[in-house]
Amino acid sequence: MSQKRWDEIYTKTFGGVWYPDEGLVRFVARFLRRKVGVEAYDDKRPVGRVLDAGCGNGRHLIFFAEQKFDVYGVDISKEGLRVARAWLRKRGLTAYLQASTLTKLPFRPKSFDVVVSCEVLDHMHVRQAIEAMQEFKRVCAKGAYAYVSLRSTADCEYGRGEKTGRNTFVLEEGYEKGLIQHFYDLEDLSELLKGFRILDIESHEKSFPCSFSIDKAFLQSSQGFRGHVDLANLEPFLKYSRWHIAAEKA
Ligand SMILES: C[S@@+](CC[C@H](N)C(=O)[O-])C[C@H]1O[C@@H](n2cnc3c(N)ncnc32)[C@H](O)[C@@H]1O
Repeated sequence: MSQKRWDEIYTKTFGGVWYPDEGLVRFVARFLRRKVGVEAYDDKRPVGRVLDAGCGNGRHLIFFAEQKFDVYGVDISKEGLRVARAWLRKRGLTAYLQASTLTKLPFRPKSFDVVVSCEVLDHMHVRQAIEAMQEFKRVCAKGAYAYVSLRSTADCEYGRGEKTGRNTFVLEEGYEKGLIQHFYDLEDLSELLKGFRILDIESHEKSFPCSFSIDKAFLQSSQGFRGHVDLANLEPFLKYSRWHIAAEKA
């Protein structure tokens, strides 16, 4: 079901958001690359292969490939991969792409120095996410880094829609309507990150005036929807809340 829904989303919107996740950019700057000149960068540590797990339309494949990393991407959505391939081709960049589920990755143990997964492990039941994270651990080399972005229980959509498990709901609004959304609390995070040491954790919030619906707030944040904001009606805010987590294979 979810694969079909993701295919539909990529067919209609090309994945919507076309710029890299802010937390991921900070992760690269903090742990992987140092600026040493106007347009010159140095590796903070040697990085071979980078895996984008659940790469979608490829916004992070582009980001890593532009910086000359050796990039790999997997996703269950063939449409997402098709968009990513076309985008890479147009930019003259390359990445190795394959259709795959995250719980059974088509790679040998210890293949990657970095695994990133943005807004993916929260679109499944937490048990499946834990399985996927253990699969990340399997394909991570010794001391490899992982970066994940996950929706938090402080998010304004928490509790909306049909409940299908603890902290898990089917989204009823927005462009991801009909998909599973798990909202992570600290208890979930400690289960998910077993076998990894946390290097950094941010609670990242984006706020929108309550006069915006969730659909409009999404458009506003990702594509510049131009609504008018009434200052007399600013409270309470709709808050998108995510965890941005950098970790190291233990
Ligand atoms: C919200 S999108 C994020 C895409 C991309 N990481 C980004 O940040 O733009 C979630 C992605 O996860 C993929 N996905 C969901 N469940 C998956 C699974 N079990 N295995 C692999 N990919 C999955 C979807 O197809 C979709 O491309």
